[in-house]
Amino acid sequence: MTGSIEDTYRNQPVLVTGGLGFIGSNLARRLADLGACVTVVDSLVPQYGGNLFNLAGYEDRVRINIADMRDIHSMDYLVRGRSYLFNLAGQVSHLDSMTDPHTDLEINCRAQLSLLEACRRNNPEVKIIYSGTRQIYGRPRRLPVDETHPPDPVDVNGVNKLAGEWYHLVYHRSYGLNTVSLRLTNTYGPRLRVRDARQTFLGWWLRQIVEGQTLKIFGDGEQKRDFNHVSDVVEALLLAGAHSPGGEIYNLGADEAVSLNHLAALLIELNGGGNCEWQPFPPERKAIDIGDYQGNYGRIHQALGWRPRVSLREGLCQTLEYYRQHWQHYWDE
Ligand SMILES: NC(=O)c1ccc[n+]([C@@H]2O[C@H](COP(=O)([O-])OP(=O)(O)OC[C@H]3O[C@@H](n4cnc5c(N)ncnc54)[C@H](O)[C@@H]3O)[C@@H](O)[C@H]2O)c1
Repeated sequence: MTGSIEDTYRNQPVLVTGGLGFIGSNLARRLADLGACVTVVDSLVPQYGGNLFNLAGYEDRVRINIADMRDIHSMDYLVRGRSYLFNLAGQVSHLDSMTDPHTDLEINCRAQLSLLEACRRNNPEVKIIYSGTRQIYGRPRRLPVDETHPPDPVDVNGVNKLAGEWYHLVYHRSYGLNTVSLRLTNTYGPRLRVRDARQTFLGWWLRQIVEGQTLKIFGDGEQKRDFNHVSDVVEALLLAGAHSPGGEIYNLGADEAVSLNHLAALLIELNGGGNCEWQPFPPERKAIDIGDYQGNYGRIHQALGWRPRVSLREGLCQTLEYYRQHWQHYWDE
C-alpha cells in the first residue's frame, strides 16, 4: 500500500451517491475534512435516511445534487470527471423490500446498472466503492461469517443487494471498471435514521430511549449481532477506495457479537435509566430474521489493515449524546 488517506483524497473530485443518508453523509463530511472536492447525489425520498441536516456545517464544502440514481441522464452527467465514486444509495429496509419488492428492485438493481453504464460510457477510469451487505448470507451456517460463506438471502433486499454487488463485479471483469464491494454489517452512529423501526431496530431503540419509552425486544433477545460504528465503516470505505485493487469483496465485522438483551441493558445503563420488555416476533419479521450473525473481517484486515476501533460502549455513548442534542432534526415532537 502506498500513500496516506490524506494524500489520496486531497483535491480529488469525489461523488457520493446516497450522500444525504446515514453512512453517505458521514463519509462526505470526512472526505471534505480530507480536502476532497465532494459532490453528493441523493433523491431525498422521505421514507429513507436522507436528511439535509446530516450535512449541517458543511454546506459550503460539499455540493448537494438532489437527483435520483434511476435517472440515467442525471447519472451520465454526474459521474463525469470524478476520480472516486462511493456508491451508498440504496433502499435499506428489509421489511419494505417484502411489501414493496419492485421499488427495492428498481433502486438496488436497476439504478445500480444505470450508474455502472454511466461510468462505462462517461468515466471508465473512476474507482467505485459499493456498499454491499451481510444480508446476502441469510441465516449463517457457521460463525463468524467469512466471504466464502455461500449467499443464501432470506429477503428480497438481500437478493437485490447481491445482484447490485455482482453487477459491479461483472463490470470489472467484462469492462475493466475499477470496482470494489464492502459487505457492511449493522452500522450505527450519528445521522442514522431513527424516525421509526423501518430501517434498523437500533435506530428505533435510540429514539425510544432518548424519549423515555420502553424498548421492545422481539423473541427471547438472545439473538446475537455485531455492530460497527459509522466512523469505522467510513474508514473502511476510504481504505478500499485508496488501496484495494478492483474486483475485490470484503466483509466488515466486529470483534464480538452481543445479544439484543445485552445491547438493551447497555443502552439503559448509558442512558442512566430506562426499561425494556419482550414481545413475540411479529410474523413478518420472524420470516426474514437471520438469527445470530458475526462477520469475519480478517480479509480486509490482511489486505488493507482495517479493523474496528470504536467500542460499542464508546460509540453508543457518543450516539446518544448526538440525538439528545439534535433530536428535533430526526423526529417530530
Ligand atoms: N446501515 C447499515 O447498517 C447497513 C448495513 C449493510 C449495508 N448498508 C448499505 O449501505 C448503504 C447506505 O445505507 P444507510 O444506512 O446510510 O441508509 P440511508 O437510508 O440512511 O441512506 C441511503 C441514501 O440513499 C438515498 N437513495 C435511495 N434511493 C436513491 C436513489 N434512487 N437515488 C438517489 N439516492 C437514493 C436515500 O435518500 C438515502 O439518503 C445502503 O446501500 C445499504 O444497503 C447499510
